[in-house]
Amino acid sequence: MHSGMASTLQSIKLHSGLKKILINEDVLQARVGELGREIGAFYADRPPLLIGVLTGGFMFMADLSRAMAVPLRVDFMAVSSYGDATNTTGVVRILKDLDRSIEGRRILIVEDIIDSGLTLNYLVEVLRGRKPADIRIVALLKKERERSVAIEADWVGFEIPDEFVVGYGLDYAGKYRNLPFIAVCAPDISGTA
Ligand code: PRP
Repeated sequence: MHSGMASTLQSIKLHSGLKKILINEDVLQARVGELGREIGAFYADRPPLLIGVLTGGFMFMADLSRAMAVPLRVDFMAVSSYGDATNTTGVVRILKDLDRSIEGRRILIVEDIIDSGLTLNYLVEVLRGRKPADIRIVALLKKERERSVAIEADWVGFEIPDEFVVGYGLDYAGKYRNLPFIAVCAPDISGTA
């Protein structure tokens, strides 16, 4: 059996509450590799600072940065949106700020998912005020839904249906982040699916 498939089956056995696999490990890894090569080529002449958005973005950041063949740097921000587990309100708190100034630097924001778009909208506004050379965005997932804010990522891994997804960094109540694939939560778990 293929190792990716074996670990998927093992994860499903270990984690109850999953409705279905949306993006399996092989497809996910192939797309992240593709994104890394494409974005790496884009930044070949002047490498960027990658800004990972914690916590959900940690796994995507690790794999994407490894697939980018440029001498880049990384930093992280931790933000928290006010609201309950499944709804963001647009009010974002910075829990951990960047370690260094970004003035004059090319920055690439690395996000796991664009849902309402409010988190990224806020982050871009805050970071733009710090006068970087330019700001680009890569999001692994983007939900197909209406948004009150217009947020365009420069690169998107997958457009997905408007369902509550977990895995590969994304959580429900702190769980499921270590799954190597993206799954949809069962309705009784997420309350939204
Ligand atoms: C999630 C996700 C994005 C944000 C997207 O973070 O990681 O940062 O929500 O939602 P939006 O487009 O509606 O703003 P969350 O606040 O759940 O924190 P976490 O990354 O620590 O899980």
